[in-house]
Amino acid sequence: MLQKVKGTYDILPEEMWKFDRVETLFRHFLDLYGYKEMKTPVFENTGVFQKENETSDMVSKEMYTFSMNEKDSLTLRPEGTAGIIRSFVENKMYGAAELPVKLAYIEEMFRHERPQKGRQRQFTQMGVENIGNKSPLIDAETIALGYFYVRTLGIQGIKVLVNTLGDSASRVAYRDALKEYFLPHREELCYDCQSRIEKNPLRILDCKIDHDSDVVRNAPKMEEYLSEESREYFRKVLAYLDALKIPYEVDDKLVRGLDYYTDTVFEVVSTNEVSGSQSTIFGGGRYDNLVSSMGGPDYSGIGFAIGVERLLILAEAEGLFEDYSRSTDVYVIDMTKGSAFALEVAELLRNNSYSTELNYYERSMKSQFKSSDRVNARFTAIIGEDEEKNRTITLKDNLSKQQVSLKEEELIDWLDSNMEENYE
Ligand code: HAM
Repeated sequence: MLQKVKGTYDILPEEMWKFDRVETLFRHFLDLYGYKEMKTPVFENTGVFQKENETSDMVSKEMYTFSMNEKDSLTLRPEGTAGIIRSFVENKMYGAAELPVKLAYIEEMFRHERPQKGRQRQFTQMGVENIGNKSPLIDAETIALGYFYVRTLGIQGIKVLVNTLGDSASRVAYRDALKEYFLPHREELCYDCQSRIEKNPLRILDCKIDHDSDVVRNAPKMEEYLSEESREYFRKVLAYLDALKIPYEVDDKLVRGLDYYTDTVFEVVSTNEVSGSQSTIFGGGRYDNLVSSMGGPDYSGIGFAIGVERLLILAEAEGLFEDYSRSTDVYVIDMTKGSAFALEVAELLRNNSYSTELNYYERSMKSQFKSSDRVNARFTAIIGEDEEKNRTITLKDNLSKQQVSLKEEELIDWLDSNMEENYE
């Protein structure tokens, strides 16, 4: 039997509507905040993902890279930001009359990671990128969009973590200080962190193995290397978050897994144990150099991406999806052995937005009523030989158990005035 690839999964019909529900609310939030959704290709030239990101684990270890000839190296999209910025530059969106340009995406991503709960090799991100201006107002607004979205979905068990990595100059100074500090402690670090000292010492701070060790705890703090400007910038971001009553914790170990970040970074983590070690629901931050590194103007941007599968694990654990049961408005029982009239009635109902199931088999009335119950139909329409001849419908209300006989042309008006408004 053929099987799916490790780390991938099927979204079966009984799960699909959950994706639909979280994505629909996300799109509503995009509207509220003025973001426009777009799509980029599933694969790009590998260089797109390497820009400003070369030492990240994602780029150095996890990319699905392939080639169809000797000169092109292509990679399946491991994250959304790089493709969006490539497209922003290539399509000269920076010429827009109004800045910032606010772009959004809901797309599948691919990373060759070790699969576990909440960590797949193919997963879905819903993300936003706000490109063009740099202001602490935008940083706070971006965090607000993600936070209020998750709260509106009904999720309670989350925590917002924020930090600043400083501007490019502060970051370089801090990186040098960390290198100098960690070099004599090389032997005390895990295998991966030993090679991070040279390439990306910041990542040692949030290493899952080393983060609790004395050597990491006593490492120099970013705080001491921040420029006055970055310090003031971050202070303002926090003040705006306070004003919006968004609860947050400043976490000076939060460095994020990708290299392109400068100044504000943030994550929303689950406080529910069901999320296990993959508790980051979404993460993001500001990037000052990504747009220019792709050949665009010297524009800063900020964004985040929500991991949809992780969001669903949490939503499920909080019982958000329990109230859903698919229901059919009308089940059409056909006792005529396949008359066109039953089919016509079903189409009439659907054309008027009533979800409708039609019996296709020659079966007894009793077994057709059973099917009507099984699909949880609100009404059952019965088409027998008399109904066919007179073009009438016998309609049974499955709540009150009352039956009415309606002419074909009366059916929709009758349903419009008898279907409860809030009935889905
Ligand atoms: P990221 O932190 O690499 O950031 O991913 C964002 C979110 O995607 C994570 O918080 C997690 O929920 C989800 N995620 C990541 N990897 C996996 C996986 N293997 N399986 C399931 N879910 C996963 C970015 O990708 C940045 N592009 C975010 C961003 C946008 N920064 C600025 N703009």
